[in-house]
Amino acid sequence: MANETDADSAYGDSIISDTTSLNSSVINYQYENGRRYHSYKAGKYFAPNDQQEQERLDLLHHVQSMILGGELHRAPIESPQRILDIGTGTGIWQDLKFTKIKAIDVADKFPEAEVIATDLSPIQPTWVPPNLQFMVDDCEAEWTFQDKFDWIRIGNMGGSIGDWPRLFQQCLENLKPGGWLEVMDFEAWGSTDDNSLPDDSSYNRWQHELSNASALTGRVMNVGPQIKGMVVDAGFQDVNEDIYKCPLSPWPKDKRLKEIAMYMNLNLMEAAPAYSLALFTRVLGWQKEEVEILMGGVRADLKNMKYHLYTKLHIVYGRKAS
Ligand SMILES: C[S@@+](CC[C@H](N)C(=O)[O-])C[C@H]1O[C@@H](n2cnc3c(N)ncnc32)[C@H](O)[C@@H]1O
Repeated sequence: MANETDADSAYGDSIISDTTSLNSSVINYQYENGRRYHSYKAGKYFAPNDQQEQERLDLLHHVQSMILGGELHRAPIESPQRILDIGTGTGIWQDLKFTKIKAIDVADKFPEAEVIATDLSPIQPTWVPPNLQFMVDDCEAEWTFQDKFDWIRIGNMGGSIGDWPRLFQQCLENLKPGGWLEVMDFEAWGSTDDNSLPDDSSYNRWQHELSNASALTGRVMNVGPQIKGMVVDAGFQDVNEDIYKCPLSPWPKDKRLKEIAMYMNLNLMEAAPAYSLALFTRVLGWQKEEVEILMGGVRADLKNMKYHLYTKLHIVYGRKAS
C-alpha cells in the first residue's frame, strides 16, 4: 500500500482531483460478462464498478439513511480533525435525498476535519469540498498514512476482506487515542421468522452458493454477525452494536418498513447479479446463462409476498483507549 505522499503508490500520482491525471493502472477497467470491474489489483473485488453498480450503491445508501433516520453515524463523534472512510464506493455517505455526496456530507458536517476516502476504484466525483480527498488504495495492504485519525468508517465490505482482525488492527494503530472505529454491514443473508422461505427456493439456493463461492476465495460474505466480536477482540473499548431489521420485499404492514423494503427490494434485484456474476463464473465455474437463470428465480422470490424475508444492518462502533 502507498501513503499520502509516496510517489510510487497507486494514488501518489493518481489522487483523484481535477488537477492531477489518473494513472492508467487504475482506470484500465476490466470487462467481463457485460459488466465493468476495477483495474487496480484487478480481480480482487467481486462486484462491478460500472454506472449500474454505482446507482445500486447509492440506492443502498438511501436504504441505510432511511433506517438511520438520516443520521450520519452512530458513534459519538465530536469535532473530528481527521476522518477515514475505507472502501468508500461512490463516495456517497448517508444522504437521505440524494442531494449531496455522502463523504461530502461528512466533510460538510465537519468542515474543520480532513476527510480521506479510499477505494480500489476511482469512481468518485471530482467536485468535492476542499477538505475531502479520494484515493485509490487497497485497505488490505500495509497502511502508511502519515497522521492518525479521529474516526475510521468501514461500510458494507462483507466479502471484500480476507483478514478482518488485521484490518481492525491497522484501524487501531491508525486511530488517535480516544478515536472511534465504526463498521456498518448489511447481512448477506435473508432470514424469515416464520420459515416462509422454502429451502428449495431459488433465493435460498442463491445465498448458499454465494456464501460458498466467497468462502472459497477466503472471504466471508455474511460477516455482519461476526463484526462486534472481532472489534472487541482487536482491543477496542466501549464497543456497541445496533442491529436494525430490514425487510427484503414490501411484505410488512408497517408503513415505514414497507417503504424501506421497497427500496431494499430494488437494491437486491440489482445486487444479486452484481454479487454473483464474477464469483459464480470465476470461482464456481458456472456459465453466465446458468447465473441468469438462477437470478430469474431470485427475482421471482423477491416479488413473492408470501416469503417474509428480511436482513439485518449491523452497526458496530468502538473506541481506542485514551
Ligand atoms: C459494497 S461497496 C460499499 C461501498 C460503501 N462503503 C458503502 O457503504 O456502500 C464495497 C466497496 O469496497 C471497495 N473495496 C473492496 N475491496 C477493497 C479493498 N481491498 N480496498 C479498498 N476498497 C475495497 C469496492 O471497490 C467497493 O467500492
